[in-house]
Amino acid sequence: MKIFISRIIPAAGRQLLLDAGHQITEHAEKRPLTQEELLHYCASQDGFLSVGHSGLNETFFRRCSQLRGVALMSAGYDQVDLSAATRWKIPVSNTPGVLSAATADTAFLLLLAVSRDAFHNYQRILTGNWGFFEPTAHLGQELYGKTLGIVGLGKIGADLARKCKAIYDMKIVYHNRSASPYAAELDARYLSFSNLLRNSDVVSVHTDLNPSTENMFNAAAFNQMKKGAIFINTARGKIHDEQALLDALNREQLWGCGLDVTNPEPMSPTNPLLTMPRVCILPHIGSATRETRDKMAVMAAENLLAALAGERMPQVLNPAVYQ
Ligand code: DGY
Repeated sequence: MKIFISRIIPAAGRQLLLDAGHQITEHAEKRPLTQEELLHYCASQDGFLSVGHSGLNETFFRRCSQLRGVALMSAGYDQVDLSAATRWKIPVSNTPGVLSAATADTAFLLLLAVSRDAFHNYQRILTGNWGFFEPTAHLGQELYGKTLGIVGLGKIGADLARKCKAIYDMKIVYHNRSASPYAAELDARYLSFSNLLRNSDVVSVHTDLNPSTENMFNAAAFNQMKKGAIFINTARGKIHDEQALLDALNREQLWGCGLDVTNPEPMSPTNPLLTMPRVCILPHIGSATRETRDKMAVMAAENLLAALAGERMPQVLNPAVYQ
């Protein structure tokens, strides 16, 4: 059967598809496809392995209704209209779990970098401002014994909480839609969103993007945070309001922030956040390790193979297609 892959993926995933005898077309150019190009390619395929695409909407599923499955190579699926996929009876899968450790590492990296202002201090070297030893300048803050508030205590949030607890004896509080299965192990206390904001020295976001979390971190939320707290977002940029974040930093309501996701992406190189002290920003590399990307590619390929064989995709997001 014919499969379209929208970006170059790790060989481990591609090989699985080839070994199963499928014919692959891979978009190998170093640029994202336009929506029209995506429709053009996908309209003649049996399967689609999607990397980083938005616009998987009603039009897409209508015009590509011959697809037997769409396998996302991502945990996030905010870019897909799952109701439309279900209406057109096209199963869609994602790659949950396998990227949790790498993404939690990225959150931890940002947390440490913000607490010691690592990115800004590095810039001082590049700009010839290393200067001299000043006992009261360039001071960070320590994390020992502080309170970490996790918004979305799933696998990634729990991985981060585990590290923070083991290394810095941090207390864990969390806010979720429902009780977290990780709460007991982490001795994590459930708090309302407002109470979490008021009580946390660090707030780290690990929820998915959906209508109830879009813009969740707006001016009102930042104003409720402890003065001098740290904000970390490795989930989705649309969960925070970037102007409100900038204002909160300018007013020193927040100590600093670490972002692996921005709104929009890519962030403009002239964004004022990039030159602010105690702000550490990475270009959405949460899951970017060789090991994790291999696992994601393999998981996406396995899901697509199942769909092409007429079987249930193991990580199906819209199981209603099978009813
Ligand atoms: C994910 O898997 O959702 C990552 O953010 C990459 O898109």
